[in-house]
Amino acid sequence: MNLLHLDSSILGANSTSRVLSAAVVARLTAANADLKIRYRDLAAEPITHLSGEHFAAMSGGGEHEAPLSHDLAVGAAVLEEFLAADIVVIGVALYNFTISTQLKAWIDRIVIGGKTFRYGEKGPEGLAGDKRVILTIARGGFYGPGSPVASLEHAETYLRGVFAFLGVTKLEVIVAEGLRVSEVQRQAAMAGARERIAELA
Ligand SMILES: Cc1cc2nc3c(=O)[nH]c(=O)nc-3n(C[C@H](O)[C@H](O)[C@H](O)COP(=O)(O)O)c2cc1C
Repeated sequence: MNLLHLDSSILGANSTSRVLSAAVVARLTAANADLKIRYRDLAAEPITHLSGEHFAAMSGGGEHEAPLSHDLAVGAAVLEEFLAADIVVIGVALYNFTISTQLKAWIDRIVIGGKTFRYGEKGPEGLAGDKRVILTIARGGFYGPGSPVASLEHAETYLRGVFAFLGVTKLEVIVAEGLRVSEVQRQAAMAGARERIAELA
């Protein structure tokens, strides 16, 4: 089985979502030593933002000069890795109420008509339903029910929507929140997230 592990935090060694995504991968590899891991650090090696040039070239085919040809090759590799993955683990940081721009650039390369979704007679149909996707989300504040800023949470809601659109039904979300509220809260959030990770099948 192939496991695709992505991190998208810009905080490097100080990142919480990275600690949690690594803990998920460690948990899954402990249960199945045969997992083949492909790791991508979307912050250390950013994918360029989708451009009109890229989109036109992707749709039109033909020969292209660098850097567009490199960009197309990276896009193709990223899509191939996603299609080949049985399990996808993503470390997700909440920045300014949504995902990092680096993760958005990755999503722009995997939401591709005819590959991961298509429009049929009954509307959109996801083609990536065979995958198990696990998100480890780190956020500084609180966004749960009753929070005055709950409606500003656009990372978990967005990713749930994207993966549902692609047909993914096996989506697990592990959240550590309130990380910047206090050290006590941070420790409690991490302990809670680690408990959830220990329970993963
Ligand atoms: C640029 C930036 C923007 C942030 N914006 C938010 C935010 O909108 N809401 C929030 O709750 N926390 C916010 N935070 C706090 C992060 O969500 C928190 O530090 C979390 O741990 C980020 O994940 P990471 O540690 O994996 O990078 C922000 C942090 C940074 C650096």
